[in-house]
This record gives sequence, structure tokens and C-alpha cells, in this order.
Amino acid sequence: MLLTSSSIAAMPSRDRAALINSISGFKPANLVGTADPDGHCNLAIMSSVVHLGSHPPLLALIVRPGDEERHTLHNLLRSGHYSINHVAEDMVEAAHQTAARYPRQTSEFEATGLTPVWWEGFKAPMVAEAPVKLALELREHQHLAINGTHLVIGEIVQAEIPSGCVNEDGSLDLSAAGTVALTGLDSYHRADLMKRMAYAKPDLPPRTLP
Ligand SMILES: Cc1cc2nc3c(=O)[nH]c(=O)nc-3n(C[C@H](O)[C@H](O)[C@H](O)COP(=O)(O)O)c2cc1C
Repeated sequence: MLLTSSSIAAMPSRDRAALINSISGFKPANLVGTADPDGHCNLAIMSSVVHLGSHPPLLALIVRPGDEERHTLHNLLRSGHYSINHVAEDMVEAAHQTAARYPRQTSEFEATGLTPVWWEGFKAPMVAEAPVKLALELREHQHLAINGTHLVIGEIVQAEIPSGCVNEDGSLDLSAAGTVALTGLDSYHRADLMKRMAYAKPDLPPRTLP
């Protein structure tokens, strides 16, 4: 099947959304935790978290258009804090359910049975069940002119990762941590490690790490 701009534009909107949402490849499955100034919690699944830089440690997140009705965006712009929590296999049902449009006063933690945990001095809840928990401070927010989405850039200021899941070179073994991957808006995948490759150099062939 060959797609063009016009055939994509002519697709029924639900089909187009499903296709384009999965066409970029496997994505991370994360729960974004926030709170309003009164401490009311919000939790939403988001797959658009992307690495932006390591020093400082920055992650970017894309939030759908709309301001007030986007509880995550509204809360993090006010508090300057949000958490990013990996989804593990036994959390998939609850994590997916956080996408439902609950009223602002409803906490998705209560609605789904996930457990909020507060870290000292941090104004957003972490998800107790998540194998990897990241606390982020908002560093930049851009309302993108191209389609009204929001680019949210945050710095990791604290993180909890499972002991035994850090490789010798410092990288995180996500399969060992039990983190799942996502495609589109509904498909959750187990991530099995296939192989690791050595740093690529022009004068050497591809080499598998032992
Ligand atoms: C698998 C999946 C991935 C999603 N990824 C994103 C995302 O990256 N950005 C976003 O704004 N919404 C995303 N959503 C939709 C939000 O989870 C949904 O709009 C949620 O109700 C937002 O909650 P909030 O209004 O409390 O922030 C995703 C939904 C699903 C099911």
C-alpha cells in the first residue's frame, strides 16, 4: 500500500488518527502525574515522551491541543512539577483507563486503583506501582503554531530506578525493569531484548556487545 498526502487526507478521520498514531514506531508507555494547588491528583497515560538531552537531563512531552480541559497541562503549568512513570505489564489496564475523560475533581489514581506517592518538596504525585519514577521540573512550554499541540520540556530532578536494572555502561535495562512499549492508542507490547550493539565507527564493522 502506498500512501500520499491526498490519500491520507481522504481517509476517515478515525482511521487516519489510528494509522498516523502508530506510523512513527514503538513508543514509550508513561503515566504523567500532576496535582492542582489544593493537592488534587491527576494521572494520564501519554506516549509522546522523548529524550531531548542528557546534560541537563531533559525530556520533551507533546500534549494535545486545548488548555483548560487538559488537566495535566493545566496543573503542570501552574505547579511547575510533573512526574513521568513507566507502565509495567501488570499496570496496563489501570494505566490505559487513565485516558478516560474524568471530571477535573476526579483523581485517576482513585478511579483506577493506582497508588499516589509524594516525594519531599515535589508538587506532583509519583505512581507507586511504576518500576521507574521520574520527577520533572518544567523548563519550557511552547504552544506549537502548526497544530495547536503543546511542547512541554522538563528536567529530571530526581529519579527512582530498580536496582539490578542498570547495565555496566550505565544504561537502563528496560526489559529487566518490566517496562512495556506502546503502539498507536491501544496496543501494548512486551519488550524483549534482542541484542546490544557497540558504538558505531566508520572503520569498524557492526559489532554485537557480549
Ligand atoms: C495509549 C495512549 C497514549 C496517549 N498519549 C498521549 C500523549 O502523548 N499526549 C496527550 O496529550 N494525550 C495522550 N493520550 C490521551 C490522554 O491520555 C487523554 O487525553 C487523557 O484524558 C488526558 O488527561 P488529562 O486531561 O487529565 O490531562 C494518550 C492516550 C492513550 C490511550
